[in-house]
Amino acid sequence: MKRIAVFTSGGDAPGMNAAIRAVVRTCIYHGIKAYGIRRGYEGMIEGDIIKMDSLSVSNILQRGGTILNSARSERFRTKKGRKLAYQNLKKHKIDGIVAIGGDGTFTGANVFTKEYPAISFVGLPGTIDNDLLGTDFTIGYDTALNTAMNAIDNIKDTANAHNRLFFVEVMGRDAGFIALRSGIACGAEAVLIPEEKTSIAALVRTLKKNYERKKASNIVVVAEGDDAGGAYQIAEKVKKKFSKFDIRVTILGHLQRGGTPTSMERVLASRLGMEGVKALLAGKKGVMVGQIHNDIVYTPFGESIKHNSKLNPLLLELVEVLS
Ligand code: F6P
Repeated sequence: MKRIAVFTSGGDAPGMNAAIRAVVRTCIYHGIKAYGIRRGYEGMIEGDIIKMDSLSVSNILQRGGTILNSARSERFRTKKGRKLAYQNLKKHKIDGIVAIGGDGTFTGANVFTKEYPAISFVGLPGTIDNDLLGTDFTIGYDTALNTAMNAIDNIKDTANAHNRLFFVEVMGRDAGFIALRSGIACGAEAVLIPEEKTSIAALVRTLKKNYERKKASNIVVVAEGDDAGGAYQIAEKVKKKFSKFDIRVTILGHLQRGGTPTSMERVLASRLGMEGVKALLAGKKGVMVGQIHNDIVYTPFGESIKHNSKLNPLLLELVEVLS
């Protein structure tokens, strides 16, 4: 292997820059030429490919976002788009790729790898959602979780001051990982996640009990993909059943995607970046490089995207017992 390219794709996540830096510097360490592809698969299709050196990744470790930019590419879903991408990679004589992203990124990589096996692809889990099989934590999750936790702490102060019930919506289209852990970390009264059926009646029962025993405030953390709807819809349903609640809703939205990566994030991203290059040099392809119990684990793309379902039931019990 002589030339490796790195790109970021899908929703950006804090720590992606640390991973790019690690990929580039590990390539240089091993005498491999390093390239960056801008705007994910879109840049691959358009030939937006740049040479990278040690200096081009200086002073980015601590920055959120991604210096290579990102995109969700519709064109890469088509045969024509993938062919153009392949031609551009050939033109630059790139024989290895490190793709940093989530399930959409690996779905694309999985198809591409089967069509063009001459180019070896490995992936690094990069999404705030933590919804990939084959790693304990994805790059971006810890930072997003801390951002959500700090925001909910602030909301709790004002909720207490006014004896209010707050519904706080956090990100996670198909997954409740951010909601569950931020809810536990902030002592939320309830956490509503897509993996668990939401009963409005049961929720109202809990909140009413708290109201009657004069609990100063109630915080309900809602994952945006919850089956009962978003935070506004759920708040409305609850208000209809118990009008005495003074309710407010906060949507945290994209502020969870940016910001300075935590130390956990930087170390994880640096390690996975280095291991991604080492995996390619060892002849691995078509796999996501993750970390489980501190060990490096390789999971075929097709498996890694069968996301979710791995919520730890002990965390659900924590919410139930401690709220
Ligand atoms: O996949 C990461 C994520 O932040 C999800 O939690 C969220 O649903 C989605 O991306 C938002 O995507 P976009 O930035 O394209 O609106």
